[in-house]
Order: sequence, then C-alpha cells, then structure tokens
Amino acid sequence: MNTDYLAFEGVDGSGKTSYIEALSSHLEKKSINFKIVREPGGSKLGEGIRDLLLSHEYTVEPLTEALLFSANRANLISEIIKPSIENGIKIISDRSAYSSVAYQGVGRGLGFDKIYEINDVAVDGYWPEKVILLDIDPEVSLKRQKINDRIGSSELDFFKKVREGYLQLSEKFNENFLVIDATLDLTDNLKTIYKWLELD
Ligand code: TYD
Repeated sequence: MNTDYLAFEGVDGSGKTSYIEALSSHLEKKSINFKIVREPGGSKLGEGIRDLLLSHEYTVEPLTEALLFSANRANLISEIIKPSIENGIKIISDRSAYSSVAYQGVGRGLGFDKIYEINDVAVDGYWPEKVILLDIDPEVSLKRQKINDRIGSSELDFFKKVREGYLQLSEKFNENFLVIDATLDLTDNLKTIYKWLELD
C-alpha cells in the first residue's frame, strides 16, 4: 500500500463503512499491519467529545463545533495516529480534518480557508496523505440511510453545501484525492481503489 495515512470521506450515508470493511479484509489477506480509527471519536477523550458533538442535548454554535472537532483531532493524532505511523502501522480513517473543511468550513459557512488553517494547527503535520472521496448526491444518500444525530439530521441544503466543499477540496488537492462515484457498484469501485493504492 502506497500510503501510511488514508482517509475515507463523504457526506452522511455515502457508504464509507462498507468500503472500510472491504479494504480491511483485503489488507488482512496481504498481512499489512494497519489500524482503523474514526472521527469524531477514535480515542478515549475523543469518544467523550463525540458525545458532546452528536447529542441533541447541547446547543453547539458553528465555531465551537469546529473547535471541538479539531480538539478531538489533535488528541487522536498525538495519542494514536502519530505513534502508530512511527511504529510502522498504517492508519485507515473514517473521516479526517477534510470533513471539517467540508462540513464546518463550507456547510456551516465558516469559511474554507479559515477551517483549513485551524485544522492545519490541529493536525501538526499529519494531514491524511491519501483521501478517498465517496461522492454522492445527498438527496440519494440520505434516502439510503436515515441519520438521527445532531449533525446527520441537518437539512438537505446543508449536505448539498458539504458535497460542494468536498468537490472543492478534491480539485485543490487533486494529487491526494481519488473521487469515487458512490452510486456505482462496490466491487468495481474497489478495483479502482486497490489500483490507486497499489494493492492489486
Ligand atoms: P458519524 O456517526 O461518524 O457519521 P458518519 O457515519 O456519516 O461518518 O457522525 C459524524 C458526523 O459528524 C457526520 O454528520 C459528519 C460530522 N462531522 C463534521 O461535521 N465535522 C468533522 O470534522 C467530522 C469528523 C465529522
């Protein structure tokens, strides 16, 4: 595999879980040492922050939301991601700092560049090297999967902006991003992904 830190990204309901499961079995077969993490969450403190972020119990205004996500990320990176990579363990992440640029920067309208900068501080040099963007019209993905948490239950218009944010990211960082049409067949898409990761 040609990367130490791979992230899957996409709007809610884009199917990240199925891709991560398939990739895991493929990596196991190849005896590649890897660890799966998820954001928000991923560490003990992170799981606590995840509850604050996703529960309907709290009112979290956009800037606080962005800072909580980045605090979760700083902790996850220093506690798990950085030491794993230093020990030769590859990281497969369900979401990453790029989620914040799409969701908080573009979706919430805090600004693409501003949220990129905040996260540049939080990740301390550890942006994912490769990103697989599962691109899908949110109108389709939200029908596939009903999400009830505070962010997942947002309006369709919010997710449309998030998708635009992701597409902007994939253009700006086109050397790091592979954009997959998430409405196409999983097996065919996996072939494209394995080729891109030099895992075929
Ligand atoms: P989760 O249950 O992990 O959703 P999913 O299965 O779609 O990944 O909940 C994460 C929610 O938080 C999801 O709606 C995306 C959102 N999110 C942000 O808004 N900003 C971020 O930086 C991250 C990591 C997630």
